[in-house]
Amino acid sequence: MTNSYQEFKTRLAQNPQTWLVTGVAGFIGSNLLETLLKLDQNVVGLDNFSTGYRHNLDEVKQLVPARQWSNFNFIEGDIREPEHCRAACADVDFVLHQAALGSVPRSIEDPLLTNDTNITGFLNMLIAARDAGVRRFVYAASSSTYGDHPGLPKVEDEIGRPLSPYAVTKYVNELYADVFGRCYGSSAIGLRYFNIFGRRQDPDGAYAAVIPKWFAGLLRQETIYINGDGETSRDFCYVDNAVQANLLAACTENPVAGGQVYNVAYSQRTTLNELFELIRARVAPACPEAADATPAYRDFRAGDVRHSLADIGKAKSLLGYSPTHSLRQGLDEAAAWYIAQALQAAEA
Ligand SMILES: NC(=O)c1ccc[n+]([C@@H]2O[C@H](COP(=O)([O-])OP(=O)(O)OC[C@H]3O[C@@H](n4cnc5c(N)ncnc54)[C@H](O)[C@@H]3O)[C@@H](O)[C@H]2O)c1
Repeated sequence: MTNSYQEFKTRLAQNPQTWLVTGVAGFIGSNLLETLLKLDQNVVGLDNFSTGYRHNLDEVKQLVPARQWSNFNFIEGDIREPEHCRAACADVDFVLHQAALGSVPRSIEDPLLTNDTNITGFLNMLIAARDAGVRRFVYAASSSTYGDHPGLPKVEDEIGRPLSPYAVTKYVNELYADVFGRCYGSSAIGLRYFNIFGRRQDPDGAYAAVIPKWFAGLLRQETIYINGDGETSRDFCYVDNAVQANLLAACTENPVAGGQVYNVAYSQRTTLNELFELIRARVAPACPEAADATPAYRDFRAGDVRHSLADIGKAKSLLGYSPTHSLRQGLDEAAAWYIAQALQAAEA
């Protein structure tokens, strides 16, 4: 399967398409940009820098030859503005819609802002993509849609009640995408990401995700907090696997693959206690003080599900998804990036 992804990328590189990546200055968006440019694709990017950074774009610029960087057209704009969405969708083959306000706690604190961005913004993008006649609209859905459903592993058609405003917004995205398929014939595919991690994921701020926060915290010799008893588990998935899912979903010619949602994960469950040890082991060679670090435990966080594990059979069989990186392989690559960042910060 990995070979067939390689072959797919070779074919794509020989046949350049035009892609719109919304949220391009963010973590997943900038990784999509990097891969697409390296495959000689034309990329339009849209972002308002609310949680993304210019330095993510600058880093991608450093990583690709100037010839490929010149295939990138950045639009600073907001998905809550229909005109910005319309301008960004012009002459685009595929949309990879990543722009949203992530984070369960942020949505609990400010449900209206999350709703505006994740629902109104999403609808603006769906309409703009429909009117521009794009070939496929792939969007970032979320494992949070499983809510309080107790089943493990999670299968796409069995969901529970949402546990946060964020989860509501991501489920509403799926409903709108489905209805646009029926009412207007739009071809959308939702990717339910499960705890994606990797280079350029922001370690700072109140809403940082656990892996970047712990890498940066251990490198800065800060106390690492675990919410709850540490036996909460997640299906952590390296960003290259998520990039693969996006490219395959956009380009699939499988007639039954369109109009669906798919789990995007590695399909392995890891507790927070195990994750802490895996990260500490990767930080210790660069920062010996981290070798003896122990986490501090505090209350469980509102809105969090206890366990998460994906069944990825649907993405495998319909899209040909075959994750290239396990958690450990992904953490090795992520560690190299976070350690390099820490060294740069120390030199500055
Ligand atoms: N990282 C994960 O584990 C994960 C899990 C499930 C779902 N998701 C979803 O994946 C997508 C990307 O997440 P990420 O982790 O890269 O987050 P991120 O915050 O790094 O990226 C989101 C990007 O969207 C941009 N953005 C936000 N509001 C915007 C607006 N109104 N107009 C234009 N741009 C806007 C931000 O500036 C940022 O660059 C989001 O839709 C998120 O909900 C992520």
